[in-house]
Amino acid sequence: MKQSAIVPSKAIMTESTESPNRIQVVFHHPASQPVKETDALVDTVRSTAPDQVKVAINELEKMIGLGEAKRVMYEIYALLRTNRERLKHQLRTDQQVYHMVFKGSPGTGKTTVARIFGKILKEMGILSKGHLIEAERADLVGEYIGHTAQKTRDLIKKAMGGILFVDEAYSLARGGEKDFGKEAVDCLTKAMEDHKNDFICILAGYTEEMEEFLQINPGLPSRFPIQIHFEDYQVEELLEIAEMMVLEKEYLLSPPAKEKIRTHLHKLLQDPFLVSFSNARYIRNVLEKAVRAQAMRLLKNNQLTRDDLMILRAEDIMLGTVRP
Ligand SMILES: Nc1ncnc2c1ncn2[C@@H]1O[C@H](COP(=O)(O)OP(=O)(O)OP(=O)(O)O)[C@@H](O)[C@H]1O
Ligand SMILES: [Mg+2]
Repeated sequence: MKQSAIVPSKAIMTESTESPNRIQVVFHHPASQPVKETDALVDTVRSTAPDQVKVAINELEKMIGLGEAKRVMYEIYALLRTNRERLKHQLRTDQQVYHMVFKGSPGTGKTTVARIFGKILKEMGILSKGHLIEAERADLVGEYIGHTAQKTRDLIKKAMGGILFVDEAYSLARGGEKDFGKEAVDCLTKAMEDHKNDFICILAGYTEEMEEFLQINPGLPSRFPIQIHFEDYQVEELLEIAEMMVLEKEYLLSPPAKEKIRTHLHKLLQDPFLVSFSNARYIRNVLEKAVRAQAMRLLKNNQLTRDDLMILRAEDIMLGTVRP
């Protein structure tokens, strides 16, 4: 059954003008089909997945936005389930390649999602450990001949059973032909062939740089069949993230505090001179600063209620001093 068939449509009854005794039923399909489709997918995963998978998927589901990343996980889950069923019918099941590229601006959740992917893929039985080894250029590239291969091999060894997450991967192309970065890429791709199903490699970085990096390494895109774009967050998404972050810390944003952040974000994101914006990380920093400001404000007060201790007021939100 196609997804659209299970999305409830609204039936509108009208009286026909041509023959007054006939009732016309017009099926009105909601406009937000893609969202509904994802909702239906999540529900199916929730109702069919084993408990541990559900817990891991819930962690991803809780995050605001990130439609592409969520969709990839549902696809992998669906494929695994189909393969299990195919096996019962003695049908072929091909091994999939799960190496990925994450493209997106700072603070859009790339590292956080990679860590959660590790947990989900472990629960799904694709990875044996599901841990995340974070690496950057300096961890892979050596200083003399032979050093790079050794460093890269050592890292891959640590990542076995989990995810090797290479941040700012495009910097491996820095320095041109003679640079050892190229050797690191070669070493990595060789290891990916040799240990096809023992670890997953995720290359992450800012969108334009990653696209250029993939272009100058034509062998790479086919080795990284899953590419996920992490969109910049909209103001309302950033506010939802803010609410989530304060709740986790057992604080609350007063309505004027939330409004102050909203107005500020609208202004900030329209600023033509804003060159880089750290998305959800900016929100985290603003809130951490607010928690400190609230603590200072409360110093003057001897009798503190639970509300006093929880509520962040507009005056605690100090926006000018946090770097975007
Ligand atoms: N969708 C989201 N919902 C809730 N919190 C989020 C979301 N996206 C990011 N965050 C939070 O924002 C912070 C930054 O996220 P993260 O470090 O994963 O970003 P990143 O894309 O890896 O950034 P960078 O490219 O600078 O390394 C983290 O504290 C994370 O928990
Ligand atoms: Mg990161």
